[in-house]
Amino acid sequence: METPRRLGIAGLVLGALLVPALSPAQAAAGPDPASRPQGVIGGAGGGDPYFPLAGNRGYDVQHYALDLDYTPPRPAPARLVGRLDGVAKIRLVPTQRLRRFNLDLRGLVAGSVTVDGRPARFRQTLDNELVVTPRSSMSPGQKHKVVVRYGGATGRPKDIEDALYGWVTTRDGAMVVSEPDGSATWFPVNDTPSDKASYRFKVTVPKGLTVAANGLLESRRTRKGRTTWVWDAPDQMSSYLATATIGNFKMQRSTTPGGVPVIDFLDRDLPAAKRARSKASLALTGEMVAFFEERFGRYPFVSYGSIVDDNSVGYALETQTRSFFSRDADEATAAHELAHQWMGDHVGLRRWADIWLNEGWAEYATWLWTEARGGTTAQQAYEKVLARKASDKFWTTVVSDPGRLGIFSDAIYDRGAATLHALRQRVGDELFFRLAKAWVAKYGGRSAGTREFRRLAERVTGQDLDPLFDAWVVAPTKPTAW
Ligand code: ARG
Ligand code: ZN
Repeated sequence: METPRRLGIAGLVLGALLVPALSPAQAAAGPDPASRPQGVIGGAGGGDPYFPLAGNRGYDVQHYALDLDYTPPRPAPARLVGRLDGVAKIRLVPTQRLRRFNLDLRGLVAGSVTVDGRPARFRQTLDNELVVTPRSSMSPGQKHKVVVRYGGATGRPKDIEDALYGWVTTRDGAMVVSEPDGSATWFPVNDTPSDKASYRFKVTVPKGLTVAANGLLESRRTRKGRTTWVWDAPDQMSSYLATATIGNFKMQRSTTPGGVPVIDFLDRDLPAAKRARSKASLALTGEMVAFFEERFGRYPFVSYGSIVDDNSVGYALETQTRSFFSRDADEATAAHELAHQWMGDHVGLRRWADIWLNEGWAEYATWLWTEARGGTTAQQAYEKVLARKASDKFWTTVVSDPGRLGIFSDAIYDRGAATLHALRQRVGDELFFRLAKAWVAKYGGRSAGTREFRRLAERVTGQDLDPLFDAWVVAPTKPTAW
């Protein structure tokens, strides 16, 4: 966190308390240039120990309206470089009186920033911070509108594990999947999962290309060879789950038997076998939604659907309301990403260290689906995890704090799922599924972590579950007794 050295934390807090609110007349006139600027400086990081500079402090974003214009690489590119120009209209509420705040923006150049309609000073740092100083300090608890005009060349960004993520330029568009901290590669953002917001995307691309974003398609209009797609995503969403994937897709609409609108996108360039397999998986969406609704509660969002791109980032992502698949959506992965809509998306992460709650639940949900389809049972899948030798490195991961390079490790998925199976064996089906529903009902639309889950599990079951959770998600060893 960035704090003025002269004052220290105590001075800063005291300063924040002592600063009187500006009267409307003062606010209209702007600050007296002779007086010291009022308010605190928002922190440059969201407070996550794994990604210290992702996200920022001092405010809470309520809504992002992103107006993007994108041109993929021109024909037969030697290098994959696209062009993105954007206007981000961000509605945020300061949590303290702010005289300066940060957004995350990586690899794109800000051209202008206004706050509440007035030009603000800004600069970009080498560590991807966009630092904004408005003309006058911003009031805590009140809505402020920040508008950032920005743009630049787009490439193929990589995460700390060297995997592609963010706005990944492809020959016919872009694959946009941003877990964990890749959203800053395409819009100015408070890139921390716990600051959820609603979104609206207005994306203009060359005519013939398709834009698949989150939520519901509101309109599509072509003018002078370019098509503007407007997507509305009213559900609270973590920034890494936003997408505006662009490509040569066939869009297909349907509705689940339960009434959820489904909009799928299959790349027209998929090889026939992958297309057939993906189609077969997507045909099960309605059944899968019903299956998970029985276990986790009502489907939480305005829509669902899948994007199957012929390009690959090497993994799938549970992009909210619109799961993303690289080349092929096999049935188990389709079930996994759908289950994430409840577990990981609707109930979000508080910190990246808590990611076993996303992946453990999604994986466990897949075990349940596979069993129901007559495949491997959850018990068998669990036994397979437990069959790993105690000396296997697999067991050294601290599931509830795997380190920043461990967030996608096998243990997060498999030991995470096995933890839930061990819990289910311990408390029985009735209490286990009551807990699953209570978890979604209590933290849906918000964020929660391991502490909250352990507390709720004990509350719902009335049992002391410390030995179980300590053995399964804390100890860096194979659980033996719990
Ligand atoms: N959350 C995604 C899933 O389990 C996986 C993302 C993997 N990302 C990565 N950079 N390896 O569906
Ligand atoms: Zn997952």
